[in-house]
Amino acid sequence: MFGLFTKSFGLFSNRASPAIRPLSAGHSQACAAIHAACFAFPWTANDIEALLAAPSTFGDGAFGAKANDLQGFILSRRAADEAEVLTIAVSPRKRGQGIASRLLEANLSLLATKGVKSLFLEVEAENQAALALYAHFGFETVGERKSYYRKAGGETALAYIMRRPIG
Ligand SMILES: CC(C)(COP(=O)(O)OP(=O)(O)OC[C@H]1O[C@@H](n2cnc3c(N)ncnc32)[C@H](O)[C@@H]1OP(=O)(O)O)[C@@H](O)C(=O)NCCC(=O)NCCS
Repeated sequence: MFGLFTKSFGLFSNRASPAIRPLSAGHSQACAAIHAACFAFPWTANDIEALLAAPSTFGDGAFGAKANDLQGFILSRRAADEAEVLTIAVSPRKRGQGIASRLLEANLSLLATKGVKSLFLEVEAENQAALALYAHFGFETVGERKSYYRKAGGETALAYIMRRPIG
C-alpha cells in the first residue's frame, strides 16, 4: 500500500518521475541501447526506426529530466481493432520504479482512443518481472508457444500469449 502510494505520486522520494512522451525516429538509437541491455537478441536502431515509421506502430518513451534521457520505452502495433505489444523495456538501472507500468498505461489509453478492443502480447514463461507487470494490468493467458524464444545459450523457452480487453 505504502509502496503503491510512493510509486504513484513520487512522494517521499528524491527520484523525479519520468515524463511519458511519444517516440520519434530520433529516439531509435537510445531505444536500441535499452533493448540491448534487456534482451539477448536485440533489435538495431534501424529495426526500431522502421517500426516507428509505420503508421500502425505506437511508441512511447519514459524520459528523465535531462534532455533525451530515455529510461524505458514501449512499442505496440495495431491491426484493425486488435493490437500487440511488440516490446516493452526499461533500463536495468531504472527498474522497479513503476516506469513500465506508466508506459503500459499510456499505451493502453492511446490504443483505446484508436478504437482498439484487445491488446495481445507474448512473454517468456519464466520472465517473472514481466508476468507481474501483465498480471497487474489484468492480462490473461490465452495460449502457449513451445520453444518460441531462443536464449543466448542456444536453448529455447516457452512463451505465453496473453490478452487484455480494452475499454
Ligand atoms: C519487465 C520490465 C519491463 C518491468 O519494468 P519495471 O519498470 O521494473 O516495472 P514496474 O516497476 O512498473 O513494475 C511492474 C510490476 O512488476 C513487478 N516487478 C517488477 N520487477 C519485478 C521482478 N524482478 N520480480 C517480480 N516482480 C517484479 C512490480 O512489483 C510491479 O508489480 P505491482 O504493480 O503489482 O507492484 C523490466 O523488468 C524489463 O525491462 N525487463 C527486461 C525486458 C523484458 O523482459 N520485457 C518484457 C518482455 S515480454
